Amino acid sequence: MYDNVILDTTGRVATLTINRPDKMNALNLATRNDIVAALEAIRADDAVRAVVVTGAGEKAFIAGADIAEFAGRTAHQQRAVMQAMKVFATIEEFPKPIIAAINGFCLGGGCEVALACDLRIASSKAKLGQPEINLGIIPGGGGTQRLTRLVGEGKSMELILTGRLVTADEALAMGLVNEVVEPEAVLPRALELAAGIAEKSPIALQAAKEAVKTAARANLREGLDREIDLFALCFASEDKEEGVRAFLEKRKPEFTGR
Ligand code: COA
Repeated sequence: MYDNVILDTTGRVATLTINRPDKMNALNLATRNDIVAALEAIRADDAVRAVVVTGAGEKAFIAGADIAEFAGRTAHQQRAVMQAMKVFATIEEFPKPIIAAINGFCLGGGCEVALACDLRIASSKAKLGQPEINLGIIPGGGGTQRLTRLVGEGKSMELILTGRLVTADEALAMGLVNEVVEPEAVLPRALELAAGIAEKSPIALQAAKEAVKTAARANLREGLDREIDLFALCFASEDKEEGVRAFLEKRKPEFTGR
C-alpha cells in the first residue's frame, strides 16, 4: 500500500516501519508523505490505541533527512519544503501514544522523529545525534526546540554545536531515551510497552498526552488550568466510570473508549 513504510496492525497496536534500509531509512519527501498517510490511516482506525515507529534493517532507525534532496536547493525552496512538512507535527499532535523503537542510527531528522514521539526505547547499539552542523546546516525538524526541552540547554547545545553522536547509554543518562535494551529486544519491548498502554482508556491517554505537551507550550498557570479542564473532561467518559468501578469491585477495567 505504501512504497516507503510498512504498516502492520496486531491487536490494538500499529507498527509503522520506515522501509528504506539501503538508504539507512533516510527521510525523503516520498517517505515523509507515506509516514503522514499511514498515521492518518491509524488515526481513523478506532481499534488501534498505540503506535510503534521503527526502522527496517539492523543498522538504522532513521539516518536523517535525505541529504541528496538538499543539493542545489535554494533558501526559498527549502523554506517552502519546511513549511509544507507535516511529519513532525503529525507525530507530536497524534491523539494516540507513539513509541519510537530505535534500532540503530537515529540521526538528524531521525532523532527529531524520535523526539516528537512520546516514548523512546533504544538498542544498546544505537547511536543518536543531531549531526546537521557537519553539513553546514542546523536541525530543522524541531530538534533545537524539542531536544532542548527534553535534555536541557547544556546537553542540547553540546550535541547540536558539535554534531557528536552519543551512545544509547549516554542518551539514557541525559534523558533522551527512556530505556536501553539489547538489539533483538528493541521491537518486542516497544510492542510490550505499547500493548500495556493500549489497555488504558484512549480518552484518558489523549488527555494525558495533551496535558503533558501543554507543559512545553504554556506558562505554568495556563498549563495547570488546561490540566483541570482535561481532568474534568475525563469525567464525561464511560471509561472513567468503568475505571473507578473496576477498582472498587477489585477487577481489571475494560475500557471502551467511550
Ligand atoms: N541521506 C541520504 N542518504 C543517506 C543518508 C542520509 N541522511 N544516510 C545514509 N545514506 C545512504 C548513504 O549515502 C549510502 O547510500 P549508497 O549505498 O547509495 O552510497 C547508504 O545510505 C548507506 O550509508 P553508508 O554511509 O554507506 O553507511 P555507513 O554504515 O558507512 O554510515 C551513517 C552510516 C549513518 C553514519 C552515515 O550514512 C551518515 O553519516 N549518514 C548521514 C547522517 C546525517 O548527517 N544525518 C543528518 C541529515 S540532515
